[in-house]
Amino acid sequence: MIPYKHEPFTDFSKKENRQQYEEALKLVESYLGEEYPLIIGGERVTTEAKIVSFNPAKKEEVVGHVSKANKELAEKAMKVADETFNTWKKVKPEIRADILFKAAAIVRRRKHEFSALLTKEAGKPWNEADADTAEAIDFMEYYGRQMLRIKDGMPVESRPGEYNRYDYIPLGVGVVISPWNFAFAIMAGTAVAAMVTGNTVLLKPASTTPVIAYKFMEVLEQAGMPPGVINYIPGSGAEVGDYLVDHPRTRFISFTGSRDVGLRIFDRASKVGKGQLWMKRLIAEMGGKDTIVVDKDADLELAAQSIVKSAFGFSGQKCSACSRAVILEDVYDQVVKRVEELTKELSIGDPTDHSNFMGPVIDQNAFNKIMDYVEIGKNEGRLVFGGTGDESKGYFVNPTVFADLDPKSRIMQEEIFGPVVGISKAKDFDEAIEIANNTEYGLTGAVITNNRMNLERAREDFHVGNLYFNRGCTGAIVGYQPFGGFNLSGTDSKAGGPDYLQLHMQAKTTSEML
Ligand code: NAD
Ligand code: ALA
Repeated sequence: MIPYKHEPFTDFSKKENRQQYEEALKLVESYLGEEYPLIIGGERVTTEAKIVSFNPAKKEEVVGHVSKANKELAEKAMKVADETFNTWKKVKPEIRADILFKAAAIVRRRKHEFSALLTKEAGKPWNEADADTAEAIDFMEYYGRQMLRIKDGMPVESRPGEYNRYDYIPLGVGVVISPWNFAFAIMAGTAVAAMVTGNTVLLKPASTTPVIAYKFMEVLEQAGMPPGVINYIPGSGAEVGDYLVDHPRTRFISFTGSRDVGLRIFDRASKVGKGQLWMKRLIAEMGGKDTIVVDKDADLELAAQSIVKSAFGFSGQKCSACSRAVILEDVYDQVVKRVEELTKELSIGDPTDHSNFMGPVIDQNAFNKIMDYVEIGKNEGRLVFGGTGDESKGYFVNPTVFADLDPKSRIMQEEIFGPVVGISKAKDFDEAIEIANNTEYGLTGAVITNNRMNLERAREDFHVGNLYFNRGCTGAIVGYQPFGGFNLSGTDSKAGGPDYLQLHMQAKTTSEML
């Protein structure tokens, strides 16, 4: 088996790659507006009620009309998944892994098509869409190999005359609830981690990006996944989500999304329903309020570049995005000035145009929420740049920088999930770390410094799941920087890490007398 290596990103400075992406966009355009059914036990189920997925850069452009599950269909899917578990759990791990390797190969061959669909459905600029697709491939390649590594369990000791084993067995039916911001990577990664470990899955993708999930289901089927192993049931979070989270046959929930929904699931999943035989397991990856700390002895150009790229890549709609910067007073004015200059240079517009660095935000609700925060920011701090939006054609918010903020201000505390970065001043490195730690989250962070002692200080005291030195705070790579956060950022279930799959399994000890 070839050792795992992450999927390389596409070099769009090359003409042939740009041409291929343009062709992929045309291909996606040829199937815009199609209808997509649910997939339950391999069967296509069409409902009258529909989720309409549209292009956030061009509101009138419908990406797809997707059937919408309700409680009855969720129940039907649960029955199928519950039954299929009895056979799927007996399928050899090697076969389950092979499905992932084959699916990764199919996606790799159609890579630009998947990315172009993300450009249309999620408003992702080319490089961001390309990274999302690459990460989906990585999850399949990495988890397939991880499954092969743990398929015979872990070694334990045996005394003379005794044979002890420690094996991992699957859990049962998992409910996988995914977000729109990594509409391919996180949806696919969380679904296949649950599936390759021998569980069956009810996949509820985000309502703004259901088409990419349908296309992925087709790939899994083509790769040989039997009917009923992953069931595709887009629907309302409040209706289908609550129903399945509460369901006594749900064995575990793998959720990625906002803090509020994650805490709701945590609360509901803790109740033991009638006839339920287990305590549900919860994997929850939630929001962030991620900080870049800039020391006084630092490469200030690197600092400003890192802040701008991490704050405004994909319009700041990453749980890992830099939404706050804390800069030591000695270099504060210089760095803020450079952040302003770099932000001014960013181009914003339809992401199908490769020259645009930033596209739209995901929908009207996101637009309204972000613009409300912009108004809050104007009262709390100094508007350095931006502060405007345009929702006439799509949901565009200009990159916005607020400086001179109180570290306890709302802009510095609450997840905005848009292209808004807040900046506070710290008198020394100790205070900078204190400010960096003063939110309820703990997902990513970065420190820009040339001071080795301060790096080591941050390594110990900057309390985040993913900490980066002398670079930005986004862009974790599967198998290289396992990803997940502390505190109310989630259960620190490190996606793309060596112990992630075991979260979907339970360990069984057997002891035989020889
Ligand atoms: P969201 O919480 O609004 O939705 C996430 C998913 O939960 C969607 O599929 C939604 O339909 C579903 N949902 C909504 N209500 C539900 C309910 N009552 N029961 C069950 N499911 C329900 O989040 P979003 O807007 O899709 O994504 C953005 C959020 O996700 C941000 O907070 C971001 O930080 C977070 N996120 C975290 C990570 C991570 O790894 N920590 C990664 C990506 C995104
Ligand atoms: N894995 C994504 C990143 O690190 C969220 O940016």
